[in-house]
Amino acid sequence: MKIQFTETVLRDAQQSLIATRMPFEKFSPILEKLNKAGYYSLECWGGATFDSCLRYLNEDPWERLRKIKKACPDTKLQMLLRGQNLLGYKHYPDDVVRLFVRKSVENGIDVIRIFDALNDLRNIKVAVDETLKAGAIASGTICYTTSPVHTLEMFVKLAKELEAMGVQTICIKDMAGIMSPKEAYDLVKAIKESVKLPLVLHTHSTTGLGFMTLLKAVEAGADIIDTAISSFSGGTSQPATETMAYTLRQYGYDVDLDDRLLMEINKFFKDYRGECLDSKLLNPVVMGTATDALNYQIPGGMLSNLVAQLTAQKKLDKLDEVLAETPRVRKDLGYPPLVTPMSQMVGVQATQNVLLGERYKNISKEVRSYIKGEYGKAPGEIDKDLMKKVLGDEQPVTCRFADTLSDGIPAAREYLGDRATCDEDVLSYIAFPQQAEAFFDRRDELKKRTFTYSIKKI
Ligand code: CO
Repeated sequence: MKIQFTETVLRDAQQSLIATRMPFEKFSPILEKLNKAGYYSLECWGGATFDSCLRYLNEDPWERLRKIKKACPDTKLQMLLRGQNLLGYKHYPDDVVRLFVRKSVENGIDVIRIFDALNDLRNIKVAVDETLKAGAIASGTICYTTSPVHTLEMFVKLAKELEAMGVQTICIKDMAGIMSPKEAYDLVKAIKESVKLPLVLHTHSTTGLGFMTLLKAVEAGADIIDTAISSFSGGTSQPATETMAYTLRQYGYDVDLDDRLLMEINKFFKDYRGECLDSKLLNPVVMGTATDALNYQIPGGMLSNLVAQLTAQKKLDKLDEVLAETPRVRKDLGYPPLVTPMSQMVGVQATQNVLLGERYKNISKEVRSYIKGEYGKAPGEIDKDLMKKVLGDEQPVTCRFADTLSDGIPAAREYLGDRATCDEDVLSYIAFPQQAEAFFDRRDELKKRTFTYSIKKI
């Protein structure tokens, strides 16, 4: 049986280790080898890459994508998309989602991994539909979490619904690296027994479970795994590509990766890792193993946020109480997966409940919107009293939230006028208004300077 690999170094690995600060110029010399190494796909766009290009790297994210595509014509390029939220945390109207997907495919994306933080599939159906229409591969994604309502049956039901939507692969996304080898084995087996599609597993090495989890997932029938080239693997990143290839071959699986090229790719990124360590962009701590997430059953990033919040308020002595309150808040909210932005919302609410000495004395705007149904449907039941407290006589939103939004493209086009040179600019603006405008300003400034210079030359 053949096991395929998605290389994450250009997206999740660098997002997890160096806050997505790898400029195109840094990795462009190695693209030709990445293209030839035999990967199923290269994850290289979406997630935080788009924002980081505009905000920190002064790069046009669309142009980055086109340049990667030009250098990598033989390997599928992959992106991560938050369904109706695109790359952010709010819902966009359908016309925006459709144009964003269409333009992503036109500019070079072959595989779009589409998820919703609550696993509310209504929030991914438009993105999936447009991906299929644009002729790309839609990877329908299930966010993995543990709770009394997240049973094997519930996950299998989600997988079947994704299959019915027409996605070509199903991805299980363990964003916090908390999925154990046993859980992976049981879940992959259950899904593979119920759907015919290829199954992808995405995890992180944070808690040290990653390699074991991938191996057991493959034993249970997973077809594609996410890994990072070894010098950018481990810790908050993915398990190492070369290590998994070596192990799987010994068990008799076919792995199409070219080991000689992997060595060269690794050498390249090892040098860059050295630079990142020297400049302190890479903190070696994030490459280690952190098991706190297993003890507290909350993601490592969320735990460090809680500690930072309490430290800032000089209330670190309340940490134990907040850690006990966190699962209670999560239960009251119907067990949302603890992925951004839910992890922050639950953490802040738990902290407030403890520090104010009264539960839900203060309820944040975001938690209110969530309870009103503006993020989608909660996986479980939201506490009745809490619902009443927030809603009063108001009715919750029960439809797909995007159905309440009117078109977004025409207004953005009109606002930008000729500052937008193409539809891609309009989409950059809609996704990250301030960062995109600042980027357009710098770009215009640069054009003016070039123009003055060439006149003088004549
Ligand atoms: Co990830």
